[in-house]
Amino acid sequence: MTVRLRADVPSRAYDVVVTRGALDELGATLAPVRSPGQAVVCCDANVAPLYLERAGASLSAAGFAVSHVVIPAGEAQKNLDRAAELYGVLYDRGVRRRDVVVALGGGVIGDLAGFAAATYLRGVGLVQVPTTLLAQVDAAVGGKVAVDFRAGKNHVGTFYQPLLVVADLDTLHTLPVRELHSGAAEVAKYGFLAGGRLLESVEALAETAHDGESALRRAFTVEVVAGCVREKLAVVARDEREETGARAALNLGHTIAHAVEAATDFERYAHGEAVGIGLRAALRLSERLCGLSEAEVARGLALLDRLGLPSGFRGATAAAVVAATARDKKAGAEGTEFVLLERFGRPRLRVQAPASLIEEVVTWLSAA
Ligand SMILES: NC(=O)c1ccc[n+]([C@@H]2O[C@H](COP(=O)([O-])OP(=O)(O)OC[C@H]3O[C@@H](n4cnc5c(N)ncnc54)[C@H](O)[C@@H]3O)[C@@H](O)[C@H]2O)c1
Ligand SMILES: [Zn+2]
Repeated sequence: MTVRLRADVPSRAYDVVVTRGALDELGATLAPVRSPGQAVVCCDANVAPLYLERAGASLSAAGFAVSHVVIPAGEAQKNLDRAAELYGVLYDRGVRRRDVVVALGGGVIGDLAGFAAATYLRGVGLVQVPTTLLAQVDAAVGGKVAVDFRAGKNHVGTFYQPLLVVADLDTLHTLPVRELHSGAAEVAKYGFLAGGRLLESVEALAETAHDGESALRRAFTVEVVAGCVREKLAVVARDEREETGARAALNLGHTIAHAVEAATDFERYAHGEAVGIGLRAALRLSERLCGLSEAEVARGLALLDRLGLPSGFRGATAAAVVAATARDKKAGAEGTEFVLLERFGRPRLRVQAPASLIEEVVTWLSAA
């Protein structure tokens, strides 16, 4: 099964192809979009031995002049020095605007190589080939590219839409299980935001995922990944550059998640694990402030349980998490703003939550 989605944002229209085995079709999929010139494949040291050769062979076969650059893995590489190193590679190889940078890897490579592609010569072609679940459902679509700067995560960046996104679900077979869980939290987020069929297929997935690691790997179907992408694209189409506010819906679960990450020094929890905790908070707050029913809360919590996401946080006091929530950039004079749910499929943006309620919910999660 192949799903080909059309992203239609003001600055560009492009396709997102989701299928199994897509890596071998990469060149053939790209050639009609950008006639073959140079293709510089960027990936990290974990992904290179796994997928670089196949991606390169497929691009070569379609007529691209392929070269590659491999950088060490990890968030710490997402910085201006590495971006400058990529500029150097593009310069030395004589890359021009009509050539393409292929970001083959997780969100770190997508953001870093995407940032370099967006800024080199004021923008060369960019192809996103996400190989983590998080990147497939989130980072590779939507056109945000950035590097970290000092204490600021994603502090220097821009909006830059790719020419094409190719997500090969088979690459998830080699993904460490913790990364799968981490991506699963974002998948649950899209399920809650979309409701309906997507939520049902995420629940079905969670049932099979429960049967151990290899079941979890196989559980992420083209239908589910493409459904998440469709949901993200619908939001991004309404707010490409984060101006109308619609894009804020994607922050469901993220206010408390960021606070948990900050209060635990960004060490204890993978982002997605923190999102799992933040989604629990969002469900509870939605019940109290937006009329989400007790049955829906229970349904949401059960889904997060089945996906193997943490039931609460450790390693920080409730008070520390509450304080970090108040420091969040979306905290206003009235209280902290949340994205909550009136019901599944119906988010409500910019809901003010009183401090006492935040404290109650955070305390509930710290006891869990
Ligand atoms: N631009 C956006 O809209 C957006 C959205 C969400 C997240 N992000 C960014 O994404 C980044 C996180 O992305 P991530 O979770 O993909 O992290 P990542 O890129 O670090 O990948 C996680 C780990 O998995 C390895 N890996 C990748 N694919 C693999 C595969 N198929 N098999 C085996 N190992 C593999 C990587 O080498 C890395 O060690 C953060 O920097 C975050 O800011 C960006
Ligand atoms: Zn997230």
